Amino acid sequence: MKTKAIVFLINCIVLIFNCSVSVVAQSAMTNVSGRHCISLNGKWQSIPDPTGIGNWREVWKDRKPQKKTDFVEYSFEGSPLLNVPGDFNTQMPELTYMEGTVWYKKTFTNRLKSGNRLFIHFGAVNYKADVYLNGNLIGSHEGGFTPFQFEITKVLKDGINTIVVKVNNNRAADGIPGTGYDWFNYGGITRDVNLIETETTFIEDYFVQLKKHSMNEVLGWVKLNGNQLSQKVSVKIPELGIDFKTQANAEGLAEVKFSSKFNLWSPENPKLYELIIQSETDTITDNIGFRSMETKGAQILLNGKPVFLKGVNIHEENPYRAAKAFSESDALTLLNWAKELGCNFVRLCHYPHNEYMVKLAEKMGLMVWDEIPVYQHIEFASPGVTDKMSLMLKEMIRRDRNRCGVFLWSIANETYATTPNRNQALIDLSKVCRQQDSTRLITTVLCSQGYENNTFNVWEKLYNYFDVMSVNEYLGWYSPWQGKPADVKWKLVCSDKPMIISEFGGEALFGSNFGPKDEADSWSEEYQEQIYKDQIEMFGTTPNLAGVCPWLLVDYRSLGRMHPLKQGGWNRKGLLSDRGEKKKAWHILKTYYNGIKNEY
Ligand code: GCU
Repeated sequence: MKTKAIVFLINCIVLIFNCSVSVVAQSAMTNVSGRHCISLNGKWQSIPDPTGIGNWREVWKDRKPQKKTDFVEYSFEGSPLLNVPGDFNTQMPELTYMEGTVWYKKTFTNRLKSGNRLFIHFGAVNYKADVYLNGNLIGSHEGGFTPFQFEITKVLKDGINTIVVKVNNNRAADGIPGTGYDWFNYGGITRDVNLIETETTFIEDYFVQLKKHSMNEVLGWVKLNGNQLSQKVSVKIPELGIDFKTQANAEGLAEVKFSSKFNLWSPENPKLYELIIQSETDTITDNIGFRSMETKGAQILLNGKPVFLKGVNIHEENPYRAAKAFSESDALTLLNWAKELGCNFVRLCHYPHNEYMVKLAEKMGLMVWDEIPVYQHIEFASPGVTDKMSLMLKEMIRRDRNRCGVFLWSIANETYATTPNRNQALIDLSKVCRQQDSTRLITTVLCSQGYENNTFNVWEKLYNYFDVMSVNEYLGWYSPWQGKPADVKWKLVCSDKPMIISEFGGEALFGSNFGPKDEADSWSEEYQEQIYKDQIEMFGTTPNLAGVCPWLLVDYRSLGRMHPLKQGGWNRKGLLSDRGEKKKAWHILKTYYNGIKNEY
């Protein structure tokens, strides 16, 4: 009896320990590429678990038979190897349409220098991740498109350590996004995984950008993490002869405030400066640009001058592989097309893309519209949903706020006014956005709008909480024209705000010929081409128009696009086919964009 009581007590202690160790993911440190990283990219062992029985078998314990009579009904040894980063759907035929659980395993040798700290950092896992180290849960993260990390310093063992990640991409009614979305639900460890070694006290985060409405004054901060927080901190920009000295307070926060004459960043001049931040125990470098972005009435000003935004929507998919995009080369493929099209911005829809996209866009002179997947049907009134939205927004802003290329935070796309709590949730989220970053413009795409008697009515008062009205309209595709495009009348709820037409277009299968070219069901390039001609005609008489952004750059996978010949599980609104072939509409838009000259 006594033995049983002792065993029970030990089990309780272990359970408490596991609970105390397992945490919700910490906010990820910024600028991973500027840190001491050991990459865990490469082949990971995997156990596909479509029925979810792996929980009951406690797969994370990676058990081996101990006695002659033992046996174990799972094994990572002999299991399929999956590439990380990358979605699992396109790596094994059996996983093509998998929406469920796959267990991943990787080992690494503990080489941590005494006194240092070790974190495991994930660029993203779609959609939920439970992370185990040596059989113990160290934490979980929900959200498929933002980074997260766990400190593992105190739970490492000598020699070989084993990471097991339970990845689940099931849709959830209370998820962000919810259960319905017009893109492929790629599951997996879809972005880079790194071990990051830091000093005991290190530079965890920082913000170094121009103050709102200023073109020469930087107002920011540096945040230390550790046990010696009140350190001297310096912020250097050698090229400008800046060596700003500051002091971190007891919470490790140091204010940064200095002025200079900057060579301002713009699409024509994507100037970045080497930035060196030093504390007494840590140093980190970054490449930072400085520019001013604001609105003035119905105009958007870049560095004090009106700019017309020439964009394109991009999903995070490499069309040639028909798989999740994750690498710098994937980013180069997509962004080179955007540059060739004549864009000065890209809308990374409908979720934060991998960091290569954001950083490369900035280097190439493309402004970035950054967005979280609060998409269409969201259960705003369900417990925990607004907290998830807020956390996801903070994770996106935390990762990208030092990227001057990012000019606009978008907190939602096409949510419905009829959904309970939608308005309050978006108002609250807009306040979180401004609290997290007071320097950038914010928007949301609402779909409370109407088109009658050739009049387009944007009537949603919620736009009053945002800087830019963003309107998706598909005149010529989902809504046939009701008159001449140039005669469209507009009623705008905020006559003093800029408007971006954030989506327009229609479908075409490259080279197709399914019928008369003046019929939508032909899926012809000519029909799509005409949509673009008509839209451009309308833009010429659209009030408050500060930018346009067609849907979208390249055909992409979406299983709801079910016509076997014309779509085949692809949304064909691309200006490029999934083989990178330019459709006729591409040339119409390129000519239009090339005819618009901005003075930067
Ligand atoms: C919507 C939505 C997109 C969608 C597009 C379409 O406006 O924002 O995510 O893919 O229209 O219907 O193709």
